[in-house]
Amino acid sequence: MGSYIINGGAALKGSVTVQGSKNSSVAVLIASLITDGITILRDIPDISDVNDCIAILCSLGCTVEKIDKNVLKINTSGIGDGKIPVELTRKMRASSYLIGAMLSRFGKCESIISGGCDFGSRPLDLHILAMEALGAVCLTTESGQTLSAPHSLRGGEIVFPIKTVGATINSMIAAAKAAGTTVIKGAAREPHIRDVADYLNLCGADIRGAGSDTIIVHGVSKLHGCDFTVCPDMIEAGTFITYSLLTGGDITCLNAPVNQLSSFLNVIDQMGAKLITKENSVKVTSSSLSPACVHTAPYPGFPTDLHPQTAVLMASANGISTICETVFKNRFHYLEPLRALGLTATESGCRLTIYGNTSFTGGEVRATDLRGGAALVGAALCAHGKSVINDTVYIERGYSEFVGKLRALGAEITERE
Ligand code: EPU
Repeated sequence: MGSYIINGGAALKGSVTVQGSKNSSVAVLIASLITDGITILRDIPDISDVNDCIAILCSLGCTVEKIDKNVLKINTSGIGDGKIPVELTRKMRASSYLIGAMLSRFGKCESIISGGCDFGSRPLDLHILAMEALGAVCLTTESGQTLSAPHSLRGGEIVFPIKTVGATINSMIAAAKAAGTTVIKGAAREPHIRDVADYLNLCGADIRGAGSDTIIVHGVSKLHGCDFTVCPDMIEAGTFITYSLLTGGDITCLNAPVNQLSSFLNVIDQMGAKLITKENSVKVTSSSLSPACVHTAPYPGFPTDLHPQTAVLMASANGISTICETVFKNRFHYLEPLRALGLTATESGCRLTIYGNTSFTGGEVRATDLRGGAALVGAALCAHGKSVINDTVYIERGYSEFVGKLRALGAEITERE
């Protein structure tokens, strides 16, 4: 499952180029299943979630070639409605996009199982609600839930009671080729939702309003290939920013989606970070950090995927901070290993109280999930002594060339298989 060995204490300095967005890449890869012809995708990060999506595409008969670093060429001409191995779909949440893609392409999607980080229950009810609004029928069998659209999908009104990134993206994928018009109300607004709509529109779809609460999709009969570059990964950028602050370093993130990060940058600005922002870059330093109070929320609120990394920052601040986790109420598994490195924090429901002035000390811990793993790396980078972080397979789901990037910034980090 892989380990990182980190000798803490080095101030990280220099520049790092932000990778293409994980969550955009995985969605666009699965969405390519509803297109015909050749698609070129650029800035696709070399991470295991992307590699698992590629394996899913290949298991359905597509060919996927890596034609350059971070550039993929996808040919969907050999596609068939083969069985997708459950070992692949249960590895990540993005496999839920197969529901919209398979219904659109083949009129059925069997035995839906999706995985992803363990934040407690991660239901698919709102994905199913959306597909039913487009005319699909859901059957529960011994092998799980199966959706079918015997008369093809048709446009309809989808009203989400809560913000859901995945079901919003799935609705756009399913509606892109459904007959008639679909109106998605209560849509989530995350940047990669706009990115997926831009991708599908480049393939010939007619999707308007992505990035707002209401998305309107006029179904088209065919989608062709295209050449598309995914947007930068705001969570990777935010993660490296926390490492700069934690190590008393001086990191400049290039290709950073500065506007998308505004709620996070506002918080660290209030904590005392010194930020120099340009259109596509952010340089961050600090001498000391003050406590803060954060509520995670759907975009444009404070991203839940920067919660664990921010918790480590708060532990280094000079006072008591709080985080209220409103998106995934069970996102706290990472606290146990972080406590082993020195964190003092108490939980009450979805509210976390973090006591500052922590001196992290090296130790041996296991990553529990992707962003929790990134938070452990942050603590280890500023800890006294050596840390061993096990189960780095979780971290490699979302961060490309992670060890190389950290080393180039001056971190003392090695990896072990
Ligand atoms: N929800 C339901 N029913 C559903 C779908 C969602 O109740 O059918 C609930 C969830 O349980 C959660 C809330 O709605 O409480 C929001 O979930 P959402 O659907 O927005 O999240 P997701 O699509 O499962 C994506 C990202 C996550 C990120 C969240 C929130 C991908 C592949 N995953 O998950 O990314 O945390 O949006 O922004 O896009 C990560 O990158 O580390 C990561 C976990």
